[in-house]
Amino acid sequence: MSLALSDPRASALAGPAAWRAALRREPPRAQVLLLGVGSVGSAFLRRWERLASLPELRGLRLAGIANSRGELALAPGRDPLAAIAQLAASAVESTSSRDGDLLGARGTRIVVDATASDAVASSHAAWLARGIHVVTACKLGQGTSLERWHAIRRAVERSGARYDDAATVGAGLPLLRTLRELRRGGDRIHAIAGVLSGALGWLLSQYDGSRPFSDLVREAARRGYTEPDPRDDLSGKDVRRKLLILARAAGFELEADLIAAESLLPEALAALVPGDVESALELLDVPMRERLDAARADGRRLRYVARFDIAGARVGLEALSPEDPLAQGGGCDNRVTIRSDRYDERPLVVQGPGAGAEVTAAALLDEVLEIARRR
Ligand SMILES: NC(=O)c1ccc[n+]([C@@H]2O[C@H](COP(=O)([O-])OP(=O)(O)OC[C@H]3O[C@@H](n4cnc5c(N)ncnc54)[C@H](OP(=O)(O)O)[C@@H]3O)[C@@H](O)[C@H]2O)c1
Repeated sequence: MSLALSDPRASALAGPAAWRAALRREPPRAQVLLLGVGSVGSAFLRRWERLASLPELRGLRLAGIANSRGELALAPGRDPLAAIAQLAASAVESTSSRDGDLLGARGTRIVVDATASDAVASSHAAWLARGIHVVTACKLGQGTSLERWHAIRRAVERSGARYDDAATVGAGLPLLRTLRELRRGGDRIHAIAGVLSGALGWLLSQYDGSRPFSDLVREAARRGYTEPDPRDDLSGKDVRRKLLILARAAGFELEADLIAAESLLPEALAALVPGDVESALELLDVPMRERLDAARADGRRLRYVARFDIAGARVGLEALSPEDPLAQGGGCDNRVTIRSDRYDERPLVVQGPGAGAEVTAAALLDEVLEIARRR
C-alpha cells in the first residue's frame, strides 16, 4: 500500500515509486522495515528519533512502517512519527509487508516485528532464509510450535542472518542472552523459575484482600499493564509461551502441550465474548480470595510462577515463602532464577522491569544498532 504522490498527505511521506527512485540516486544503506506501530512500535519510532544523532543510526534508513491494514514506504529523511498518523488515516489493504518488499533486494535489511500477529511470525523463517535480519518482540515465532522454532533456527544457521528475540521474554532483560552464554561456556541448565508476567506480577503483589481482585484487574487494565483482553494474562497462555522460549533457549526442545498451564479464569468468565468480560470480572473474586486466605494461613505469598526443571514444565499460581526470591519485589518486575552447572547451590537471579513499551522498544533498537555496527 502507498499514498499516491498526488495525494496532499504525501508531503510528509512518499510512495514506493519515489522511494525507489531515491534509492537509485543514493547508494543502498541498511534498511529497516517496522511492522506494528502500536504501543511498542510507536515507542520504537520515538526512540529512533531521539537517538538520531548516533553514528550507527545515521547509517540506517527506515524504509517503511506497517499496521494490520497496510504499509507506507518512507522517503529518506521523512518524519516517521508523522507517518503513523498517515498510516492510521489510510485504510488500504495490503499484504506486501509480509514479503519484506519495501526492503528491496540489496544491502543489509532488517525487519522489526512489533506486532502480535501469527501471520507475521509465520514469515520470520522465510525472511531469515533470504538473508533479512529479524528483530522481534512477538513471541509467536519461537513460542508456538516446535516446527516453527526449528524452521527459524535452520534459516539462521543457513543464511547467517540474525534473529534477535531479547524483547520477547522480560522485555529485553538479560535472560535469553544469559542462558545462551552459559551454554556456550559449557554449562547445562538445570532449572528455570520465574515471575514472567508484568501484569500478573503487579496484580499479585498488590492483592492483600483489602480490595476485590476484580478491582485490581480493572486498575491494571487502566494502567496499561494487561493485554486489551485481561483474560490473555489471567489464562497463563502468555506466560506459557515465555517459558517455552526460555526452555528452548536452555536446550530443551519442548512442544507447547508439555507445559501444564493453570488458568486463573473461572469457566464462566473464560466462555464470555470479549465485550462482556469487563462487567463480569467479579467472577474472579471468590476463587482468588480463597487462594489468598489459604496462602496467608501458612504465612505465604501468592505468585504466578513458571517453572522448568527435571520434573517437567508448568505455569500456575503458587504460595511461596516470603524468603523465596520469586516472592520479592513488586510492581511489574520480572524475577527469574536460573540454576546451571556453575550456579547450582545458589541460583543466578535476574530481576527488573519486564514489561512496558519503552523498555521493549529499547531492546528492539539495541539490536538494530548492533546489526548496524557489525555491518
Ligand atoms: N507492550 C508491552 O509491554 C510488551 C512487552 C514485551 C513484548 N510485547 C510484545 O510486543 C508486540 C506488540 O505489542 P503492543 O503492546 O505494541 O501491541 P499493540 O499496541 O496492540 O500494537 C500491535 C501493532 O501491530 C499491528 N499489526 C497487527 N497485525 C499486523 C500485520 N499482519 N502486519 C503489520 N502490522 C500488524 C497493529 O496494527 P492495527 O492497529 O492495524 O491492528 C498494531 O499497530 C506483541 O507481540 C507483544 O506481546 C509487548
